[in-house]
Amino acid sequence: MASSKVKQIGILTGGGDCPGLNAVIRGVTKPALDMGLNVLGIFDGFEGLVEGRARELYNKDVSGILSRGGTILGSSNKGDPFHWPEEVDGKIRIVDRSKDAMKNYAAWKIDAMIAIGGDGTMHISDQMSKLGMNIIGVPKTIDNDLEATDQTFGHDSAVAVVSDALDRLHTTASSHHRVMVIEVMGRYAGWIALNGGLAGGADIILIPEIPFDWDAVYEKVIRRNMSGKRFSLVCVAEGAKPRNGKIIAKANDLKRTDPVQLGGVGEYVAKMISDNTGLETRYTVLGHLQRGGSPTAYDRILATKFGTNAIQLAVKKQFGRMVALKGSEIRSVRIEDAISRQKLVKPKDQAVLAAKAVGVSFGVENL
Ligand code: F6P
Repeated sequence: MASSKVKQIGILTGGGDCPGLNAVIRGVTKPALDMGLNVLGIFDGFEGLVEGRARELYNKDVSGILSRGGTILGSSNKGDPFHWPEEVDGKIRIVDRSKDAMKNYAAWKIDAMIAIGGDGTMHISDQMSKLGMNIIGVPKTIDNDLEATDQTFGHDSAVAVVSDALDRLHTTASSHHRVMVIEVMGRYAGWIALNGGLAGGADIILIPEIPFDWDAVYEKVIRRNMSGKRFSLVCVAEGAKPRNGKIIAKANDLKRTDPVQLGGVGEYVAKMISDNTGLETRYTVLGHLQRGGSPTAYDRILATKFGTNAIQLAVKKQFGRMVALKGSEIRSVRIEDAISRQKLVKPKDQAVLAAKAVGVSFGVENL
């Protein structure tokens, strides 16, 4: 293989779906077919590689999918070959099935594998690369929590949904003089809450990186009420927690690559505000609406740039690398380096400073 040309491309989408995945698949497949390469679409992420589920992709498969949400290949956040859940007598046992993944990779004669996914997928890709798989990573996640790239596709679309939801909640908040709490996704990073909250005019933004004080939250809504603005919008990241408090999870599912399923903080924050201020409060959990539907124009463009650059890396045999946005350029970084650091919101980030400057509270006295 060392001197031979790349002919057979494998492509898979792993982890949670997000807007822009199909745009990447198209961005990889169209140029690959134009270059006379074969593209094998693997179903349901690494799960399909372990279980041997794939089919060849043709131009007709990727035509008209640019604006379509989800992924035509299917995805899974339970298919980690190194951490494969097997149910025996009603109990979950974790086994290593990376050999099966490598076996199918060899049987399908894949010269270059393009893995589109978030943190979990990049960790698996790194381990696969160390087993000898020729792999290229493409970073996706609505959470935008990968340090190695300035932005992941999917984030902009999720932020647009949050912003739109806040606009809608605004009208009920002001008509009924209520506190409206919205819980948004993002796992352990506050980017969706921060950017969505900023775009949608939230009065309070609570994020995991800045543990909040209850008193500061109550004070903000009461002060707004007393000043004549008889409503407040509170945007809470699912991973947000009070100072000295814990993250709230709704389930622990051992079958998932990351077993912790976050959720519930929005309801908790709404109850605490209502109990401690006497103000009428409601909460909304935006959930998977943030991951659904058509990608924004920004995400379509970023995803297309990522896909077309990934196939170039594959042809040049730049394996073990992940495409990344640096400023306005698409570059590549070693997957190994990409997974070593999570990108979290810093209290001095420009978006935090801008939010503070327009009066947003992060639920702390002095930030
Ligand atoms: O990582 C993307 C994400 O949407 C997170 O923001 C969220 O915590 C998680 O996935 C939800 O996962 P699931 O769809 O498996 O419930």
